[in-house]
Amino acid sequence: MQAAYSEAAERNKWPILEKLHTLLASSKSVLEIGSGTGQHAVYFASALSHLVWQPSELPDKLPMLLSHCLHRPSENLARPIALDIDNDQNWIAIQADTVFTANTLHIIHWPQVCKLFIRVGSLLPANGLFCTYGPFNTDGRYTSESNAQFDSWLKNRDFNSGIRDIRDLQYSAEQNGLRLQENFEMPANNRLLAWRKLASESVKAAL
Ligand SMILES: C[S@@+](CC[C@H](N)C(=O)[O-])C[C@H]1O[C@@H](n2cnc3c(N)ncnc32)[C@H](O)[C@@H]1O
Repeated sequence: MQAAYSEAAERNKWPILEKLHTLLASSKSVLEIGSGTGQHAVYFASALSHLVWQPSELPDKLPMLLSHCLHRPSENLARPIALDIDNDQNWIAIQADTVFTANTLHIIHWPQVCKLFIRVGSLLPANGLFCTYGPFNTDGRYTSESNAQFDSWLKNRDFNSGIRDIRDLQYSAEQNGLRLQENFEMPANNRLLAWRKLASESVKAAL
């Protein structure tokens, strides 16, 4: 069972927000995927009052997320919804100009990562933004010894999980009209990657 409180989310929420202030300055609606305990959703919604923050989680984890968000309401924090990358039905009614996800790409399996890029690519309007936070490899290498150890811990637990390489993500992103715009180094060997949705004419030219 997932813990109801994440110390990591508490530690990283401020450095992430520092970047989101600029990245999301013109965003109006943010869909968060894999919101976990909801600590990020509550904190970011209260600090970014110009937009609506929509948290989401797998159906079996929704009750915990709901309870966290309902205890710390803000006007611009939408009621959390059930959303599974693997379930087509969930995605039909969703609209957002920005998508955010933290610490999910190394948990989900590679085919799910690819599916996520497909979903985000078709959901976002031209110029929309996809922000992904977590540990990432660069040019086939770990960026730290602690990330290498974390990756081996992940794979012992679930062989199909693991830290993703930015090069592989770029390939999947480009296939879906998304281009890496920002690659920020973050505390504790994490990164914040921001992918911009291209206008459809630019996508045709890029493929
Ligand atoms: C390590 S937790 C990160 C939680 C939170 N974003 C944070 O940074 O604290 C990974 C999250 O991904 C979610 N997740 C796993 N598989 C998923 C899927 N197929 N669709 C949507 N979310 C998924 C899990 O339920 C979990 O909450």
